[in-house]
Amino acid sequence: MMYEKGLKGVFAAETGISYIDGQLGRLIYRGYDIQKLAANYHFEEVAYLLWYGHFPNKEQLFILKEELKKNRWLSDDLKSIISLLPPTMDLMSVIRTAVSAEGGYGEYQFPPTISQAVKLTALIPSIIAFRKRKLEGRAEVPPRNNLDHIENYLYMLTGDIPTAAHVHALEAYMILTLEHGMNASTFSARVTISSESDIVSAVTSAIGTMKGPLHGGAPSGVLELLDEISTVQDAAKVIRDKLIRGEKLMGFGHRVYKTRDPRAIALKEKLIKLGGQDKWLDLAMEVEESAITLLEEFKPGRALYTNVEFYAAAIMKAIQLEPILFTPTFTASRIVGWTAHILEQASDNVIYRPQSKYVGSFF
Ligand SMILES: CC(C)(COP(=O)(O)OP(=O)(O)OC[C@H]1O[C@@H](n2cnc3c(N)ncnc32)[C@H](O)[C@@H]1OP(=O)(O)O)[C@@H](O)C(=O)NCCC(=O)NCCS
Repeated sequence: MMYEKGLKGVFAAETGISYIDGQLGRLIYRGYDIQKLAANYHFEEVAYLLWYGHFPNKEQLFILKEELKKNRWLSDDLKSIISLLPPTMDLMSVIRTAVSAEGGYGEYQFPPTISQAVKLTALIPSIIAFRKRKLEGRAEVPPRNNLDHIENYLYMLTGDIPTAAHVHALEAYMILTLEHGMNASTFSARVTISSESDIVSAVTSAIGTMKGPLHGGAPSGVLELLDEISTVQDAAKVIRDKLIRGEKLMGFGHRVYKTRDPRAIALKEKLIKLGGQDKWLDLAMEVEESAITLLEEFKPGRALYTNVEFYAAAIMKAIQLEPILFTPTFTASRIVGWTAHILEQASDNVIYRPQSKYVGSFF
């Protein structure tokens, strides 16, 4: 029987949720190109598309937004549980624990439902903001019912209504990272639900997987690069020196995409549309140009282009989200993809039970 380490190149499910073409640099959600989705739609509309398989009409969108608003209030129990966790616990572990505790009331039985998916999606930004402010010794900022999902997330973090430019930048990032095929966290979510466990357990598994540096990673390496460069005039020299030293440039190259990462293209387009008035965005665009030219000079033919982490870092910096929030914010978007996969798996379920190839001894 065939064995592929890490199941590399093995199809582990059939899906109608997303399609990735690494050679052509395409990412499609439910048949729609992500560039179009990020440019023309809001978070709630794309989340609806992933969960239901079609866009919402006006009334359906209104209902979804109301459901998200209704469910983003943390219960007193959940707040107490989060407050009891040691301050040294990293934010991803706090989210994992809080989501797991949310399953304590017994209302999340198999089979999973879209309402359950919406509820968990609504809760994650509130968990992040509550914990972050608590750690800083600041009072909780309760959600506001006149704010949509992304705007409310930024509002709960800072207590200020965010600018439209910041909301649009974060919204584009979140739409582009909602879903990415059978990545490790999505796979663990599907494996967990395949035992007819509940959606909370499946999402908890996914968060635990996302937490690892090989997956959720952090665009912090890109921030270090941008910090090191600091002015547009320095860009080419700093990058050349790095490549001469044989260092890798963070935010460039990709295992799957052998051409431009479509998410990086879409994020950049969004940033240009927004005016790029922020110093970090201007710097990021200059660094990208120099880096691509120099990568072709130092690594000819390797097709090394900007990946999603590069513009994700630029966006996070521009909207003043601290590095501690990077992976949690990625989690707040990817939960939509996880739950879409959980629903898909449950709708035509076979329990995952691959085999292991014995390489031990026989006595
Ligand atoms: C993402 C990454 C691991 C993909 O790796 P990969 O597809 O296995 O490609 P390889 O590491 O085999 O790279 C092929 C060649 O390009 C070089 N290369 C790849 N990415 C590079 C980068 N960011 N900077 C400089 N050189 C790079 C490699 O050194 C290698 O050179 P060689 O042929 O002389 O040995 C790799 O591009 C990387 O480390 N990038 C920087 C980290 C990063 O941005 N990660 C986020 C990804 S979303």
